[in-house]
Amino acid sequence: MNPAMSSELADVARLEDIVDRQALGEVCLSFFELFALPIRVFSTDGTLLTDVHDEQAVCRYVNTFSSGRTACSGLVADVRRLDPSEGPIDHPCFTGASYRIVPILYQGRRLGRFVVGPYVPAERREVPRSLLVIDPGVDPETARDALGQMPRVRLETVERITAHLGKVLDLILFSGHRAFLTTEMHVASVRENYRALTEKAARLQDAYDQLRELDRLKSNFLATVSHELRTPLTSIIGYSDMLAAGVVGSLNEEQAAFVETIRGRGDHLLALITGLLDMNKLEQGKVSLARQPMQARDLLEDVARTILPSAIKKGVTVSAVCPDDVPPLLVDPVRIKQVLFNLVENALKFTPKGGSVRLAARRTELDAPDDGGGMGLVLMAPGRPAVELSVQDSGVGIPPHEHAKIFSAFYQVDGSATREHGGTGLGLAIAHRLVEAHGGTLTVESAPGEGATFRVVLPEQDGAA
Ligand SMILES: Nc1ncnc2c1ncn2[C@@H]1O[C@H](COP(=O)(O)OP(=O)(O)OP(=O)(O)O)[C@@H](O)[C@H]1O
Ligand SMILES: [Mg+2]
Repeated sequence: MNPAMSSELADVARLEDIVDRQALGEVCLSFFELFALPIRVFSTDGTLLTDVHDEQAVCRYVNTFSSGRTACSGLVADVRRLDPSEGPIDHPCFTGASYRIVPILYQGRRLGRFVVGPYVPAERREVPRSLLVIDPGVDPETARDALGQMPRVRLETVERITAHLGKVLDLILFSGHRAFLTTEMHVASVRENYRALTEKAARLQDAYDQLRELDRLKSNFLATVSHELRTPLTSIIGYSDMLAAGVVGSLNEEQAAFVETIRGRGDHLLALITGLLDMNKLEQGKVSLARQPMQARDLLEDVARTILPSAIKKGVTVSAVCPDDVPPLLVDPVRIKQVLFNLVENALKFTPKGGSVRLAARRTELDAPDDGGGMGLVLMAPGRPAVELSVQDSGVGIPPHEHAKIFSAFYQVDGSATREHGGTGLGLAIAHRLVEAHGGTLTVESAPGEGATFRVVLPEQDGAA
């Protein structure tokens, strides 16, 4: 515990903070019922915390005179103002009654006071002159009667009663103080935890801001470098094209092969740079989608047509199947074709001669998005109507433990097939992000030697965000 906290706990500022009001009220009431002595408890600043009394006959009588009312309220004000800092005070009233004002001490500190009275001291025999002169109309007989109806107690008895009440109050204070300390300690520890958490949150925010800044710098760097690389690369590809076409004279076989290699590597580099730029834009959320209603059949057939020449060349069959009940999609056709093309390109790349690549569409459902409410909510939420576009091949397949990894940038399953076929390892990472940007999902199902099926699930046109 820090020093500031402990000194705060030691400071019991106000009686009303630590005393149990109900217990205080009950104790005073039982004293009143036992001894018929009115009791009032005040805190240091004069706040009345408990008040048990009966209206006394003499007070009622005095209050029938206007000068009596003035004197009475003056006296009450005096009693409230009196400060028993040196010990209990016995304060006489002009009626002949008396009040005893006792300090409430706790651990050497004054927390308030209690007032017992008015009562008539047992030794008083006569109606005092101070009562008789309060008004010319005061009748000595009535005054004597009224005074006679008041509790009559010997001073020593009052002293004993007040001492006893003082001890009981001490007990109430002690237990109240313990509860107060416990609460204060609890509050202090919650406050301390909150402070520590706030500090941690601030440090995390700092780290997050720094990372964001670094990420921004990295993205800017990547964008600039990629852009700067692309310009000379376009020239390299363009000039090697011209050389291959014999624009500046015909090439012998060896020269043509060299130029072909330059061209091939150039293309690879261009694909890599374009991929990097795409990834960068996707990571920054800078890719805007030009959505429009699209028929799944058109998308599949278009992609199948594009890949057909390479498939024929490789000896792999390509088919596209789309039932009539598949509803239209609201997607960016260029981006979704990019996704499908990548999947089909992969399928073809990893399927040996004689194999097949099948594109298909069907109606399905998309899980409701997980808003952090936990599994239960996701399971209970109704699925949204969706369309699944799948690319299935009969190729080499992917071991299950690689399934999650192939969607990471630059990851390629370590095998001879990958090495044989090259590629940058960005295709699936980009496809995955593009599908997510459409509010859909991209998943894989595959086992070694059993081919692979990639499924793109996109919300139906009506459900698309
Ligand atoms: N249909 C598939 N069959 C078997 N393996 C696959 C298939 N599709 C992807 N893979 C594995 O996942 C890896 C990552 O695929 P991805 O498309 O991201 O990269 P790539 O095809 O190697 O390169 P790029 O697409 O950037 O030219 C591939 O290298 C391959 O190992
Ligand atoms: Mg690929």
